[in-house]
Amino acid sequence: MDIKEQVKRIANEIASEIVDTRHHLHSHPELSFQEFETAKYVADSLRKMGLNPMEGIAKTGVSALIEGKNPSKKVIALRADIDALPITETNDVAYKSKNDGVMHACGHDVHTSSLLGTARILNQLKDQFEGTVKLIFQPGEEKAPGGASLLIKEGILKNPAPQNILGQHVMPLIPVGKIGFREGLYMASADEIYITVKGKGGHAAMPDRNVDPVLIASHIIVALQQVVSRFATPTTPTVLSFGKVVAEGATNIIPNEVKIEGTFRTLNEEWRKEAKIRMKKLAEGLAESMGGSCEFNILDGYPYLYNNEELTRRNRQFAVEYMGEENIVDLDIWMAAEDFAFYSQEIDACFYRLGVRNEAKGITSNVHTPTFNIDEQALEIGSGLMAWLAINELQS
Ligand code: NI
Repeated sequence: MDIKEQVKRIANEIASEIVDTRHHLHSHPELSFQEFETAKYVADSLRKMGLNPMEGIAKTGVSALIEGKNPSKKVIALRADIDALPITETNDVAYKSKNDGVMHACGHDVHTSSLLGTARILNQLKDQFEGTVKLIFQPGEEKAPGGASLLIKEGILKNPAPQNILGQHVMPLIPVGKIGFREGLYMASADEIYITVKGKGGHAAMPDRNVDPVLIASHIIVALQQVVSRFATPTTPTVLSFGKVVAEGATNIIPNEVKIEGTFRTLNEEWRKEAKIRMKKLAEGLAESMGGSCEFNILDGYPYLYNNEELTRRNRQFAVEYMGEENIVDLDIWMAAEDFAFYSQEIDACFYRLGVRNEAKGITSNVHTPTFNIDEQALEIGSGLMAWLAINELQS
């Protein structure tokens, strides 16, 4: 039997167990950097396969090696994130979250159970490929500074050093049975902006005696959009959104200060640096010119995610061989952020999308919602495909 058939056969044989694993993880979600039980469960599962997991990387990270013949020939890494979100699940399913206010609403339970499935397949076939697969079960994808950055600091990309890394993420916009790829620029950097505009509060009937931070803040919000529309090159996607504005005055009270919070996203590191300088200067200058002042702070988030062209083209082709051309979707740029981007800044990386949507079954909710769910056929596909990609990538 050729190796593709073997991968498909094993993926099919273990499919119901992968679903059980997903149900267990889904009903026991843990917040970012607190994934102690999840990490233990993952490590135990790896030990049951006869692997020798390394635990406690950045506290809750787990890694293990699957060595084929000639293990030093080539090393590649496969990554799954393991954390959940602070959302209360409203799905009425048997495997509903048992942890109040915590939910696997971004599909990281899917990534984790799928990678455990991939590990079983690769482990069964390890006498049929050369090289080493490094499995990375990564904590804290959803929370700054991102588990990926901590794992990299702790040496996850060394000893042995993978040449490249693959990761998958559920995509509720894509029907189950399909996989999405994009070469090159794929996801955005994301920085958090915190602005405090200071004025002088007082009676709203006497604006001349006050410095109105509400009016200054309004001007700042409008003016900052010009950084996007007038300074960003039209070919570099840039997003600036403010989702929180707090002015605690009243109909007749001008407050002392206004707080504004937002997000800045783009796909170019030089522009990202320049934009931050421009935004700060503009906000501070505007506030000053209007008699007030402004504290402009930026919390650096994840960098942009770059899918190495050659690696992605190659793996897209492997996916075509596994799934058929008709089941491969070409993705557009996606302005969300993902800490897999940290790996992509260090080594060749390919982050692809696993279709999980099924309109006929009513499975259409987006990630980060209380009703997010998947068509679980995606698990067999996700596990088998990643094993197939890994085997091919080791050979190329
Ligand atoms: Ni996610």
